[in-house]
Amino acid sequence: MIIRSYAYAGLLLPLVTFSHSVSAKTPGRYDAIHSGTPWIDQRGLPVSAHGGGITKDGDTYYLFGEAHRDMTNAFAGFNCYSSKDLANWRFESVALPVQQSGALGPNTVGERPKVMRSPTTGKFVMFMHADAIDYRGQFVGYATAMNITGPYAFQGPLLFNGKPIAKWDMGAFQDEDGTGYVLLHGGDIYRLADDYRSVREHINKAMAHGFESPAMFRKGKTYYFLGSNLTGWERNDNYYFTATSLNGPWTRQGTIAPEGTLTWNSQTTFVLPIADGKKTTYMFMGDRWSYPRQASAATYVWQPLIVTGTKITMPVYRDAWRLDAATGAAKPGPAISETIVATDKRVRFAGTWRQEAAIEPAHHVTDESSSSFSVTFTGTQASLISVARPDGGYAYITLRDRLGKEMISSTVDMYSKYPVSGIKFVTPLLARGTYTISASVVGDGWYWRNKKGERSGSAGHAITFERAEVRR
Ligand code: GAL
Repeated sequence: MIIRSYAYAGLLLPLVTFSHSVSAKTPGRYDAIHSGTPWIDQRGLPVSAHGGGITKDGDTYYLFGEAHRDMTNAFAGFNCYSSKDLANWRFESVALPVQQSGALGPNTVGERPKVMRSPTTGKFVMFMHADAIDYRGQFVGYATAMNITGPYAFQGPLLFNGKPIAKWDMGAFQDEDGTGYVLLHGGDIYRLADDYRSVREHINKAMAHGFESPAMFRKGKTYYFLGSNLTGWERNDNYYFTATSLNGPWTRQGTIAPEGTLTWNSQTTFVLPIADGKKTTYMFMGDRWSYPRQASAATYVWQPLIVTGTKITMPVYRDAWRLDAATGAAKPGPAISETIVATDKRVRFAGTWRQEAAIEPAHHVTDESSSSFSVTFTGTQASLISVARPDGGYAYITLRDRLGKEMISSTVDMYSKYPVSGIKFVTPLLARGTYTISASVVGDGWYWRNKKGERSGSAGHAITFERAEVRR
């Protein structure tokens, strides 16, 4: 990976309002956990479950997260997906739909759902951040269900001493003894009543400025409390605290990923301990946001965490990795058979492209709206590797079979605050054959204005090609 900081003077482009969403005629099947690429579910639709968490029930993992639409930040419901292998996700339900009116109704904000089962009542309780569309009416809400997939009935604010908790980013944690906790930005921790329907005690207060997207896990006697800095949808170097009691004292530790990688371009949402084999793998779950195309272009960054004593780290970024079913350990993803570089005759560039000389690794780049490229490959799976850059924008990708029939289309985001090479699109497993991946310039990039009106996001809308990798 190359990290290079450089000043970039770019034009701010008006938002083009046409919208490409992901569609696929082919259901997705994967044999690895991929990060930074769209995932296709059994219906051929993208997995939309951001700011999420995973709850295990029996031998099945249930992923709950924010459903998203493109071009709006309004609450679109919380989705539930199931999986036995964490690589293939089956859409189960809209676990909590948009409410008729009021909180979590039309034109409101709903974020970061987390589900835990109360050991005393056996009911499933979902916690979430409910807010006004301008993020000025926040509280922690909850919803309850008899079945894990829902339907969940929204119950309103979670009360502490009869009052709502007026905070935004939240997470949830269930300790080994079944006690439930709600975690808030700033590092606040609230202990839940046994039925998880109210708060008993405020056990940790105002620990850090910001510390958004709070997530927690426990290994042995140590609690690890992860969170991000306050930069909206933009990524930053997330960090963590450790303690041997939830009441503290908490010790501030370092960043979760190497400094400058901006948590491998993601924001923490959850840590899942996977204890299926002899070993436990702790899986970091982060979001790579992409407003205003969160539905089609925001992706997931799920990486194995290395946990040693009070230290956690993700020293390398894995585009794809697997869980060894027998040992429970994380192992590398599938081996690549062939690399197709830009000079290969199977790669075709249309429109105006230039070779980037100042930024490594070498890549082709364009921001001209009629420009595109395509790569034809023969095999069972291919990945497109591009350099994401500070002026990177959306690419509209299609996968077609030999006869030109469209199998998948997707919008992917080629923005990063620092230039970094990575997989932007991976096909699901395909019947061995010849296929073509094409990508064209959409003409906009992600951006966001926070409450203070400060803008973050891309300075342009460039798309890039570095290489493709193929599995025979
Ligand atoms: C982030 C937060 C997200 C969302 C976003 C909106 O800081 O973690 O969940 O609220 O801000 O700007």
